[in-house]
Amino acid sequence: MSKNKLLELYEEIDDLDAAELAPKRLSQKRESRKQVMDAKVFVRAQEVSREFKFTYKAARFEEAWLLDSLADIAQHQWISDVLRKVKGGKEASVYLCKSGVAVDAPLVAAKVYRPRSLRNLKNDQQYRVGRIDLDEDGHALWKQADINAVAKRTSYGEEVRHQSWIAYEFRTLETLYEAGVDVPKPYAMEKNAILMGFVGDLEYSAPALVAVSLELDEAKRLYDRTVYNIDLMLAQNRIHGDLSAYNILYWNGDITLIDFPQVVLPESNPASWNIFLRDVTRVCQYFSAQGVRCDGRKLATELWTSHGHKVVKEIDPRYLDAEKPEDRKVWEKQK
Ligand SMILES: Nc1ncnc2c1ncn2[C@@H]1O[C@H](COP(=O)(O)OP(=O)(O)OP(=O)(O)O)[C@@H](O)[C@H]1O
Ligand SMILES: [Mg+2]
Repeated sequence: MSKNKLLELYEEIDDLDAAELAPKRLSQKRESRKQVMDAKVFVRAQEVSREFKFTYKAARFEEAWLLDSLADIAQHQWISDVLRKVKGGKEASVYLCKSGVAVDAPLVAAKVYRPRSLRNLKNDQQYRVGRIDLDEDGHALWKQADINAVAKRTSYGEEVRHQSWIAYEFRTLETLYEAGVDVPKPYAMEKNAILMGFVGDLEYSAPALVAVSLELDEAKRLYDRTVYNIDLMLAQNRIHGDLSAYNILYWNGDITLIDFPQVVLPESNPASWNIFLRDVTRVCQYFSAQGVRCDGRKLATELWTSHGHKVVKEIDPRYLDAEKPEDRKVWEKQK
């Protein structure tokens, strides 16, 4: 079964039953080990589902995946129900959930990452440089076997890296929330899911800024607020890494920055100036279109140098975004 086909399963299939996906049958059909594992998840979820039911009508396979991903979060009373899907993304889907007693707000957002094999990888290597991988508790990897597996890129090592990607998002939310950056409040990370404050209400989810047209006054205010946030992040030694009007939510006149797995630590990554400049430029593109006068390069330079960083020669963005290892060498050499 191709990856696309399996993806379709996640999205659409509503008429499979557990028997059809039983591991034995799959193996007979020469399915990959990974798919057998996915099937096991499905079967296991059938059991979990007896204990945890939710309102959201998911497609069958998606339901299995959700039950498996959220079982621990539900068991620990972070959520009591899944109400609806907010958005299905390439690497994760976000769901609106009713909070459990462990949460101090009525609604929460669960960002549930797809299994690694079905994740549409962003070009993540450029962001990982200089980052120590984290384990499922968000601590730096310490087991030598895990470290070796990551270095050797074994299949298990790839799982560990995937978990680290998720842990970076959660840890970053914690750090930035604590520092007063406008990010959702992080509640929990269990398995492949992150639970955080929901931006929106029962009926509507906050739109991304890119979908919003602002009056000039408000545009100026939100531009200032965005710059304030970028500055605060730098003070915490963090660059968002994928900042743009797509990853800033707008609700009741306020902004919330989201989507942090690719966060970059300025001093550890040789491409950090490039990445920072790109973030600031994209933000300025949006606000310029709303009538705010801003110059991305000038602003990025001011913010960057005010935190003691040097503006260095930029790496050609073609190489920065390159997937091919030989292209990556061009900038990795600068380490
Ligand atoms: N805390 C939240 N409250 C409300 N909506 C949220 C929240 N977090 C994420 N969303 C919604 O889910 C979408 C996807 O979230 P996010 O950007 O974190 O994931 P992603 O996998 O990177 O998705 P994409 O590929 O679309 O960027 C957001 O664009 C937003 O619509
Ligand atoms: Mg996003």
